[in-house]
Amino acid sequence: MSLNWTSGYVADLTYSHGYYHELAPSFLRFALLFNGMAHGAGDPVSGNYTYCELGYGQGVCANLHAAANPRGQFWGTDFNPDHALFARGLAQQAGIDAHWLAHGFEQLLDQDLPEFDFITLHGVWSWIDASARHALVEFMRRRLKIGGVVYLSYNIMPGWSAEKPLRDLMRLHTELAGAPGDATSSRIRGAIAFADRLRRGGAAFFEQDTRAGAMLDDMRRDDIHVVAHEYFNRSWHLTYFADVARSLEAAGLSFACSVHKSDLAGLVAQRRRSCRIDDLELNPALRETTHDFILNRRFRRDVFVRGADRLTPGEREARLKDVAFVLLRPAASVHTTVSTPYGAVKLDATITAKLLEALGPCHEPVALGVLMAQAGLSEGSTEPVFQTVATLVANNTLAPVFADDLRRTGTARARSHDLNRVIARRSQDTDTLRYLASPVTGMALEVAVPDRLCLLAWEQGARTPDELAAALHTRGLPDPEAHASRFLQEVAPTWHTLGLLAQEPA
Ligand SMILES: C[S@@+](CC[C@H](N)C(=O)[O-])C[C@H]1O[C@@H](n2cnc3c(N)ncnc32)[C@H](O)[C@@H]1O
Repeated sequence: MSLNWTSGYVADLTYSHGYYHELAPSFLRFALLFNGMAHGAGDPVSGNYTYCELGYGQGVCANLHAAANPRGQFWGTDFNPDHALFARGLAQQAGIDAHWLAHGFEQLLDQDLPEFDFITLHGVWSWIDASARHALVEFMRRRLKIGGVVYLSYNIMPGWSAEKPLRDLMRLHTELAGAPGDATSSRIRGAIAFADRLRRGGAAFFEQDTRAGAMLDDMRRDDIHVVAHEYFNRSWHLTYFADVARSLEAAGLSFACSVHKSDLAGLVAQRRRSCRIDDLELNPALRETTHDFILNRRFRRDVFVRGADRLTPGEREARLKDVAFVLLRPAASVHTTVSTPYGAVKLDATITAKLLEALGPCHEPVALGVLMAQAGLSEGSTEPVFQTVATLVANNTLAPVFADDLRRTGTARARSHDLNRVIARRSQDTDTLRYLASPVTGMALEVAVPDRLCLLAWEQGARTPDELAAALHTRGLPDPEAHASRFLQEVAPTWHTLGLLAQEPA
């Protein structure tokens, strides 16, 4: 494995092309607001802000966010040159003006960079060695503005306690049992076969706890690129929340909120109540660590801040009502049960139905206060409405839209359309890029191949079912007529609201 220059991080297998809406500026601002904190997001005069993604992988989130958020000046780094080339190539084809660097985190400390309003890192912290983590903390200390926000996702204990020993044994196997010069992929396959022999032979480790066996099955099934980056870096740094919070204290950061779906949707609060634990009694480090035990959590998505701009309850309510919302899918397809990796949450069926009924016919974002009035939800406690909205946001059903972003949707449209066109064209022969940017929400949405091809045809003037079906037909997709009709009836109206289509649906 060629790991010397990467301090044990896998580099000869590139990473996958995922998108995570939690990194979007508007999502982070909404999560803070829901938790009673403001984030100005931008220079008071120009309205611009600075954003940096560390370890951007293939640059999918990075480019989608840069295209859809014209108020942001985007920076990022990833030391894998294959990743940097892909991210830069995509930016170049779509005309995105961003700074995708190819430095390691230690090297980044010496660069001449601005201070940032947002620093984000997804899937990086637990998989790098101590000196790279130290460099990240130092970067945040030097480069995060006062009032700035850090989004950090990472693996956490105790959820991995059963699997950690097996991963360590398998990692040891890749290091000590392969032939010199073996590629990472064949070393990993060798380690998986080795662990499987132990399991089949009745090794007590597997018999006494089935969870490690389930991880092994996942590894056998999953894409080797993801498996390599998830389990086969030299470092798999698993600690408790309290340890992560302590590390970030060195950069002057304090915990603001969890943006994991299970928290935003209220599952953690429900479970905590059934354990009869009052969160207000607990120090935040103990509280969050306890939550991880309550769920036996494996992965956290957290927001830390350098200084919290705390709102009074009245300010929070007024600002939440000012945020506008759009539907990301047809109202009829929304279920009132939301699943999370740790169990399902039931939405308040009455509030959900009233909100969707009010929002469904709207072709533009509507302020929550207006929606509540239209839906007859202005009287009584606002908290159940806010919780329902937060759950729908966590579930990717609603997206928040802030007024300062709305003013720039013209520029966002042009940039997003350019990127979406590049992505849709690629769909003609590969399915690696599966997301399109929405200039209205500043986020991206996952779109299946036929709909991406319909976008391409739409851009070329196709407006009728026959014209769209003809475009799908040439790609040999099954049932093009049904797809084309569904696109026009269900997809196009939503995409119109989200700014994905250049013109009105026919
Ligand atoms: C698991 S991937 C996550 C990529 C991306 N954030 C995503 O979620 O799709 C971690 C990324 O961090 C990069 N990385 C790891 N160690 C690094 C370091 N010391 N300096 C810069 N980048 C690093 C890797 O090349 C890889 O692209």
